[in-house]
Amino acid sequence: MDWDNLGFKVVPTKTLYVARTDENLQWQPGACVPYGPLEIHPASGALNYGQSGFEGMKAFDAAGRSVVLFRPHDNARRMQQLAERLCMPPYPVDDFVAAVLSVVNENREFIPPGDKGSLYIRPVLSGSGPVLGVGPASSYIFYVFVSPVGPYFKGGIRPIDLLVTDYHRAAPNGTGNVKAAGNYAASLKPLTGAKSAGYDEVLYLDAREDIFVEEVGAANFFAVLKSGVIVTPRHGSILPGITRDSIIRLSMEHFSWQVEERDIEIHEVLGEAAECFSTGTAAVVTPIGSITYRGARHALSDGKPGEKTMALRDRLVGIQRKKYPDPYSWVVEVPR
Ligand code: PLP
Ligand code: COI
Repeated sequence: MDWDNLGFKVVPTKTLYVARTDENLQWQPGACVPYGPLEIHPASGALNYGQSGFEGMKAFDAAGRSVVLFRPHDNARRMQQLAERLCMPPYPVDDFVAAVLSVVNENREFIPPGDKGSLYIRPVLSGSGPVLGVGPASSYIFYVFVSPVGPYFKGGIRPIDLLVTDYHRAAPNGTGNVKAAGNYAASLKPLTGAKSAGYDEVLYLDAREDIFVEEVGAANFFAVLKSGVIVTPRHGSILPGITRDSIIRLSMEHFSWQVEERDIEIHEVLGEAAECFSTGTAAVVTPIGSITYRGARHALSDGKPGEKTMALRDRLVGIQRKKYPDPYSWVVEVPR
């Protein structure tokens, strides 16, 4: 493995974990199987009606001493919310975590050493059985594959340039608050358009008023206002990020910084923000260097990573890699 040049792409590994339901939607015991293609019915709910969704998490090498996961039970619970919303049988939380532990343990040789990267973990829940009239699939698959990854954005940790898109990713009472695969299908046109115009990612506004900031393509949004207060969009149609929750807690409890979860107008961000950043498993904490809205480019913190942004990033990554104490018991060791 070329550990120094990892990007964010699929690298085949040794095994993946697979479990399936029977026709009565009861989960059958799963197992790690050799890495490779899966069989799926041509009339599957996933391929025909988008009845599918996923999770994203990472395993880290903690200074060569252990391999750890970050808040895996929270990913398991969020996948249960996905299951509920898309009418899929929920995969039990303990079985989810056990599956992730076993597939990570079996693929230890693919975990980037030290700070070179991490092992991205992708649990997927899909309607695999046939269905013709619109309705839930007749059977389901849960699987977990892994891939060694480096930084999500090309060029490593650097401030990214965002374009405020006219498209909306999530409507009130839609599916924006769960990791439904279709949310990402719908994001491809705005994303590829923004990338071909030279931006790294899009920033979405709310679908009702088209004025409140929601989130970055695949990450949550934060602004540090000139007053020092940190603001982030409240729950509703955003994805409730586990990194977002961790950053809120670290801001308030470790740094004693004030955080407000509320509606944030794009004009407030453009006028009042001293720093902006996005958070996610893939994005970690990524500084935002500029936001372009209606043709006007607004630079943030002189295009340099903000001070609070980097302090939060350092604290989070330090806990994730067991460099710093973990007062919240977020880190879970992967047993051999
Ligand atoms: N928002 C969206 C749309 C995402 O896809 C993700 C990634 O999972 C996030 C936010 C961040 O969530 P988390 O911090 O749990 O990875
Ligand atoms: C993650 O951060 O895990 C995500 O889900 C983002 C992704 C779609 C690459």
